[in-house]
Amino acid sequence: MIITVTMNPAVDQTLVLQKFVAGDTLRVKSSRSDPGGKGINVSRVVRELGGESIAMGFAPGGLGRYIEHELKRAGIETDFVHTEGETRTNIAILDEARHGTTILSAPGPTTSPKAVEELRGRLRSRLQAGDWLVLAGSIPPPLSGHCYNEIIQEASDAGVHTVLDADQDPLAEGTAAHPEIVKGNRREFERLVGRPLDDEESTLGAAQEVHESGIATVLATRGRHGAIAISRGTVWRGVAPRVRAISAVGSGDAFVAGVVLTLSRGDPMEDALRLGIAAGTAAVLTPGTELCHRREVDILYPRVRVEPIADAVNSRN
Ligand SMILES: Nc1ncnc2c1ncn2[C@@H]1O[C@H](COP(=O)(O)OP(=O)(O)OP(=O)(O)O)[C@@H](O)[C@H]1O
Ligand SMILES: [Mg+2]
Repeated sequence: MIITVTMNPAVDQTLVLQKFVAGDTLRVKSSRSDPGGKGINVSRVVRELGGESIAMGFAPGGLGRYIEHELKRAGIETDFVHTEGETRTNIAILDEARHGTTILSAPGPTTSPKAVEELRGRLRSRLQAGDWLVLAGSIPPPLSGHCYNEIIQEASDAGVHTVLDADQDPLAEGTAAHPEIVKGNRREFERLVGRPLDDEESTLGAAQEVHESGIATVLATRGRHGAIAISRGTVWRGVAPRVRAISAVGSGDAFVAGVVLTLSRGDPMEDALRLGIAAGTAAVLTPGTELCHRREVDILYPRVRVEPIADAVNSRN
């Protein structure tokens, strides 16, 4: 089973405007709301691609119940700890005239250490050896990245496959617990290794460094260029098909969903990288925070090129 954890969920609201002007009253042409937050997005894409998962984490306030309800309606099992405060709302404003998207991202409410204990207890009772645990996104204050570290250690000890997709302190602290897979984008790896990564070679060097620190699989996504995977000493380059990008929001989450779903089925890393890139690329074809559609993922999948990068392996092993 795939279990996703979202500690800082959101309601993602997309508003379509003919033209966005600050300081005026504007008419909204259309709007949609979706349950959001990185782990939740992973669960939604896993479902879209025909897989199953359980979405866990925190669900603050009335909007937390709304998220649960929407996920269940989409056929996704949930097990959230109900917490105090209110779930944040992220707003994406789509400007049709300029084809631009403006994102307003709100901070979430604080969470108590008691809620973390409750979540850890539920994870303990649900997780079994061979399951896949995806920890994705930020951690609400006053908790720190240490929280991911402890969850990863405990899950790994129980024989669970652990996947981390985070930034800053949660990424650094979580990586220190040696999850099986670490996924990051350029900015996230730059902050992790502490130097600029402006091309494939430097990104590869950073990914190699993280791999050698004891991470079995390192996935570095590179936006329109695709992604690099280093898995147990083998390096792969996945090239994304060229598309007309509409909104890249959620592409990283779709990527993680494609990778984890493939690996959970026992299929090889090459296939995982291919589905991850197809799902990530399909997510940029949908407006605002809308994720991806299976139809487009199926069309893109055979167009993703995955090739081993032999030189990198030879020079470093
Ligand atoms: N402009 C694009 N064209 C084609 N594919 C894209 C584009 N942007 C992203 N992708 C696909 O989505 C995958 C993940 O994208 P990206 O590196 O932007 O992730 P991310 O920064 O983690 O995203 P997120 O904002 O969701 O966290 C890429 O590996 C690629 O396959
Ligand atoms: Mg990301």
